[in-house]
Amino acid sequence: MTRRAPAPEDFPNLPRHIAIIMDGNGRWAAARGRPRTYGHRVGARSTRLITEECARLGIERLTLYAFSAENWKRPREEVDFLMSLLSRYLVRERKTLLENNIRLEAIGRLETLPAPVRRRLEDVIAASRPNDGLSLCMALNYGGRAEIIDAARRAMQAGLEGALRPEELDEARFAEFLYAGPGVPDPDLLIRTGGDFRVSNFLLWEISYAEIVVTDVPWPQFRAPELHRILREYGRRERRFGGLGPASAPTGSP
Ligand code: FPP
Repeated sequence: MTRRAPAPEDFPNLPRHIAIIMDGNGRWAAARGRPRTYGHRVGARSTRLITEECARLGIERLTLYAFSAENWKRPREEVDFLMSLLSRYLVRERKTLLENNIRLEAIGRLETLPAPVRRRLEDVIAASRPNDGLSLCMALNYGGRAEIIDAARRAMQAGLEGALRPEELDEARFAEFLYAGPGVPDPDLLIRTGGDFRVSNFLLWEISYAEIVVTDVPWPQFRAPELHRILREYGRRERRFGGLGPASAPTGSP
C-alpha cells in the first residue's frame, strides 16, 4: 500500500521560512566505505527533493547552508568538488526550478566564488526572478558574523551619505542591510541534520526566535518523511517570542 503524500492542511501550523544546516554528508559516506564526495553527491539529491517538497507544501522560503565561509579550509579536492557540484546543480536544476515557480536567491560573500559558479548562479537568479512560489536561498561563502559586519558597513555608508541618522537605526532598519534585503521573514524553523548541536555561524541575526530541531539523520538520508516529522514537531511547539502567549511576535521595540 502506498501512503498519500500529506497535504499542507495536514500540518496545522506551517513555518513560513525554514533554514537548514545540511550536515553529515562526509560521515554518512565514510560509514559506507565511500569517499566524502559521494556523500555530497547524494546530499545534492536530498537538496533537490526537499526543495520540491517545500515548494509543494507552499513554504515561502527555504534557506540552505550550502557552503560556509569556513569550508575553504577543507582539502583542495573537496572544495573543488563542492564548487563543481554546485555548478552542475545550477545547470541541471535550472529547468526544474523554473517549472516549479521557484525563485533562486543567494546570500554570502558571493564575489569570491569561482567565476563559473558565479555566472551560473547569476543566470538562474535572473531567470527565476519573476517567479512567486518558493524562494530558495542558497547560503554560499556565507558566515553569520561576516553578514553582520557587512550590514554594519552598509548602514555606516548610508549614514555617511546622509540617508540614515544613528537614532533611526533600530532592529528593523538594521535587518534591511542584511544580505537578503528588506521584507524577508526570519526563519521560523532551523533544522540541523547529522546530530551536532551547533549553530556553526549560520544566520546569527535571523535565528533569534527560530525553533531549532536537530535530527540525527544525515543530510544524504534526509528526505520528505523526516521533514514531515519535523514539521509536525514544529506544529506542537508554542512560540512565545519572549512574551507569555503565542501572539507575542517580536516588534523590535520595547
Ligand atoms: C556538510 O557535510 C555539508 C557541506 C559542507 C556541503 C553541503 C553540500 C551539499 C548538501 C551538497 C551540494 C549542495 C548543492 C546545493 C549542490 P559534511 O561534509 O560537513 O559532513 P560531516 O559532518 O559528516 O563531515
